[in-house]
Amino acid sequence: MTRIFDDDLQSGLGTRAIHAGQRPEPLAGAIMTPVYLTSTYVQEGLGKNKGFEYARSRNPTRDALERNVAALEDGRHGFAFASGTACVDSIMKLFQSGDHIICGRNVYGGTFRLFDKLLQKLGLQFTYVDTRDAQRIADACTPRTVAVLVETPTNPLMWITDLSAAAEAAHRAGALLIVDNTFATPIFQRPFEHGADIVFHSTTKYLNGHSDMIGGIAVVRDDSLADQLKFIHNAAGAVAGPFDAWLALRGTKTLHLRMRQHDANGRQIATWLADRFDEERVIYPGLRSHPQHELACRQMKGFGGMISVDLGTRERADRVLERVKIFALAESLGGVESLICLPAAMTHASVPPERRAKIGIGDGLIRLSCGVEDVDDLIADLDQAFEGL
Ligand SMILES: Cc1ncc(COP(=O)(O)O)c(C=O)c1O
Repeated sequence: MTRIFDDDLQSGLGTRAIHAGQRPEPLAGAIMTPVYLTSTYVQEGLGKNKGFEYARSRNPTRDALERNVAALEDGRHGFAFASGTACVDSIMKLFQSGDHIICGRNVYGGTFRLFDKLLQKLGLQFTYVDTRDAQRIADACTPRTVAVLVETPTNPLMWITDLSAAAEAAHRAGALLIVDNTFATPIFQRPFEHGADIVFHSTTKYLNGHSDMIGGIAVVRDDSLADQLKFIHNAAGAVAGPFDAWLALRGTKTLHLRMRQHDANGRQIATWLADRFDEERVIYPGLRSHPQHELACRQMKGFGGMISVDLGTRERADRVLERVKIFALAESLGGVESLICLPAAMTHASVPPERRAKIGIGDGLIRLSCGVEDVDDLIADLDQAFEGL
C-alpha cells in the first residue's frame, strides 16, 4: 500500500499525470523514478530500516506508480498488481465463503471466468445482474451481499451503469461498490465522486497505453479498507514487478494527452461508421443513438476510443478482420496503436456461448480499440476493409 502525497491533489489531472507520487530521486536527483531492481533492502539493525524490508511488501518504483494512479483517481491509497485479473482476485480476498457479490452481467470475460470457475468453488456466491438498471441491483441484494462490482462502460457492449445509483443501492445493503474504470480512465470518469469504494484498472490498457506490460491497480479512499488490502497484497503476493510498474508509470505521464486523441478519433470513427451502417449496429456511448447517451454525457467527460460494431454474421466479421491493415487483429485494447478483435472468439471466449448470445455478444460483433494514429488513415483502412459489406 502506498499513500498519496496530499499536495498532489491540488493540481489538475495533466499535472498529476506527470508529477503525482514522484519526487526527484535522493541520490542523484534523477527526475525519472528509477527501476528498483532489488528483492531486499539492507537494514541498519534489527527493526531499523528505511521503510523497505522486502520487495513483495514494498518497492519504491511500485510506490511511485501506486501514488500516481491513486492521485489521478482522487483516492488515497494504491495497490499495484501483476495483472488486472490478479487485482480483482486479490480484491475478492476481502470476502469469505458464503458472502454474496453482485456482478455486472457484461464484464470482461476473464473476470467472469475467475468468478465462475475459481472463486465460486471457494464458496463466494455471485449473481450477475444487468446493472444498467440500478433497481436490479437493489432487487438482487440479500443479507449476505458484501459487494457490487460494475464495469462501465462495459467490455464490449458499452453498457453504462449509473454509478451514483449503483453506490446508493450497494450502500443501502451495507455492501461496497467496486468499479472497473479501465475503459474510461480517471481522465473521463471519476467513480469516487459517485460513491465508489474501490476503483480498479487493468493497467495493461490505457494507463500504460503502449502495449508493453501487464498489470492492475486498485485504489481506495478509506484507511481501514486500505489496511485490509495491504495485508492481502503482501500475504497473497500478486504484486507488480518493478519494471512493469515503471512502464505503467511512464505511460500515465501522457494519459491525459492520449485520452484526448483516443476520444477525438473514437468520436470521428463512430460517426463515420454510423453514417455507413445502420446506426443501431454501431455501439459507442458518444453517439446519440446509444440508449444511454444522456447518462454517458452526465457521468463521463469523454467517451474514449472503444467502439463495437454488430456486423450480423461471423462471415462478415471475418472479412473485415482479414482485410484491415492498420487496425491489428489482437486481444487487448487501450494502446496507442489501433486494434480490432472478435470478442466472441477472443476476449469473451471464456463466456459460455448461450450466455454470450443472451447478453448480445454475437458472432458478428467486432470491437475496435481506436489508437492515436491519424484518423484519416484509420477511416481509410476501415473503408477498404468494409468495402462491399
Ligand atoms: C475491462 C477489463 N478489466 C479487467 C481486465 C483484466 O486485465 P488483465 O488482462 O490485465 O488481467 C481486462 C482485460 O482485458 C479488461 O478489459
